[in-house]
Amino acid sequence: MTDTGWQELRFSTVPDHLDSLESWLFDQGALAVTLEDNADEPLLEPGPGETPLWQNIKLVALFETGRDLSPILADVPSQWVTASAAEASFVPDQDWERAWMADFQPLKMGRRLWICPSWCEPPDPDAVNIHLDPGLAFGTGTHPTTAMCLAELDASIRPGTNLIDYGCGSGILAIAGLKLGASKAFAVDNDPQAVTATLDNAQRNAVTQEDLDVFLVSQADTQARLRPVDLVIANILAGPLEALAPTLVNLMNPGGRLILAGLLNEQAAGLIATYQPWVALTAVQEKDGWTLLAGEKLPE
Ligand SMILES: C[S@@+](CC[C@H](N)C(=O)[O-])C[C@H]1O[C@@H](n2cnc3c(N)ncnc32)[C@H](O)[C@@H]1O
Repeated sequence: MTDTGWQELRFSTVPDHLDSLESWLFDQGALAVTLEDNADEPLLEPGPGETPLWQNIKLVALFETGRDLSPILADVPSQWVTASAAEASFVPDQDWERAWMADFQPLKMGRRLWICPSWCEPPDPDAVNIHLDPGLAFGTGTHPTTAMCLAELDASIRPGTNLIDYGCGSGILAIAGLKLGASKAFAVDNDPQAVTATLDNAQRNAVTQEDLDVFLVSQADTQARLRPVDLVIANILAGPLEALAPTLVNLMNPGGRLILAGLLNEQAAGLIATYQPWVALTAVQEKDGWTLLAGEKLPE
């Protein structure tokens, strides 16, 4: 084991005291401060530009090794911390970039599809390989909802299918759809970072702009650029999926297929009921508390 590294101090706090505690720790010589969820409170999908905080925060402050941290533990103002300012621990030095990369390995999705980070050789060169690195936009295949969508695309795409990926994030679903045989895809999102990420990932996967049209849903020409397609896929949360029901249904060809993910198991019945006048949705997959719904558009 290496003896070079840093020391960590961990504190429990709440949003009202976070700024004071953070700047006091920097005044005491903290090199970095990171925040973690202290109470298993998922922040599911912040809107563009939002940085919501947990109600119960674990703050981790990093200090040089060899520094005596006991005065900091003794002096931290008690009103800023919710639990006794507890743990100090040693953090061994390591090659941080490699440690982070080791967490992302090729993932097999469905029957034919692999998601491969750029630093790995595709395990099966003859498979449908998507090259994708973790970035700012959601969608690397590690989340259960994305994994279910990819497996469903693998089962649903026929040669020549055209599709819309509504809430594209990294663009993973639209790019996978094209690689699986779709003839044309549209990828839209309400977050400019997602549009940038999708364009980058399309280029990395040799997907042309002619095959994949990417744009912000707030753009004035959204309605003009989007036309009804054979397959609409949306991996967003239950609330937006409910609000978007008329929009998504209008984007489906007669008899077209709709795939919805991002909803928790207990939200499935409500969404099935919302879409019931237009689409016969059923729960076709479940993973780690998340459900995927799919179904065909009903005749008018
Ligand atoms: C859970 S991520 C899914 C990303 C990717 N499609 C996947 O399956 O991994 C949801 C995406 O939907 C976008 N989004 C949320 N609400 C939206 C809305 N009303 N219209 C368009 N995009 C939306 C978010 O910005 C985010 O990129």
